[in-house]
Amino acid sequence: MQTPSRVVTSNQTGVHPRLAEVIERHARCEFLRPLSASGQHPFEHAVAAWQAHGGDLIIDAGCGVGVSTRKLAQQFPDGFVIGVDQSAHRLQRHIRWHEPEPTNFITVRADLVDFWQRMALARIHPSRHYLLYPNPWPKKAQLQRRWHGHPIFPTLLKLGGYLECRSNWKIYVEEMAIALNQLTEAEVHAEPWPVDPAMALTPFEQKYAASGHTLWHCATQLRQPD
Ligand SMILES: C[S@@+](CC[C@H](N)C(=O)[O-])C[C@H]1O[C@@H](n2cnc3c(N)ncnc32)[C@H](O)[C@@H]1O
Repeated sequence: MQTPSRVVTSNQTGVHPRLAEVIERHARCEFLRPLSASGQHPFEHAVAAWQAHGGDLIIDAGCGVGVSTRKLAQQFPDGFVIGVDQSAHRLQRHIRWHEPEPTNFITVRADLVDFWQRMALARIHPSRHYLLYPNPWPKKAQLQRRWHGHPIFPTLLKLGGYLECRSNWKIYVEEMAIALNQLTEAEVHAEPWPVDPAMALTPFEQKYAASGHTLWHCATQLRQPD
């Protein structure tokens, strides 16, 4: 039997009081962190694999062991999925896959901040982009480590496409929805995301659903860049 997952606990009891101010500050200035030398190869490797295969690009950001990357590849057989994670340990974990593996995906080890910067510079635009159970960074002082509170967020939005975020921490998804409302014309809401553990898209989703957590979701179609 699986050990039940603990629910997220935090010294932050609602949406962060400085959320709007932090988002606004990041939106005002372009994120110009120098690219890392180690990020070039995984980026070029992943893009080359996508271009050789063709199809709409789908990004599985923080793909962990890559189960969701494979499942998305099956769900979108005409697309090509790039799963990105910084953890070699997770990416190398053997996963049991009973059916023939799809061929329209690749997983790469890279820092997402660097990967997103490179996508923006190369004007590569995904049709779909998934942020599935990102690390919640639940302490109040950690707002800027959550993707919507990070200075990379406006760059991520400029990539365009359908963007979806899921979490077992309601506040994370509420904040993400507020950030999307603030920086886009869309009306985005955090909604419960009921999941049958047997149908989970990712291992974290499976674990949280099996532990009885309420899962949360928000999604929007971002403006397609010109
Ligand atoms: C909570 S796990 C979720 C994994 C997977 N999406 C799932 O639902 O099973 C978060 C993942 O994000 C990855 N991650 C966190 N920050 C990252 C970054 N800056 N660049 C790449 N991956 C990152 C971690 O290594 C980890 O695998």
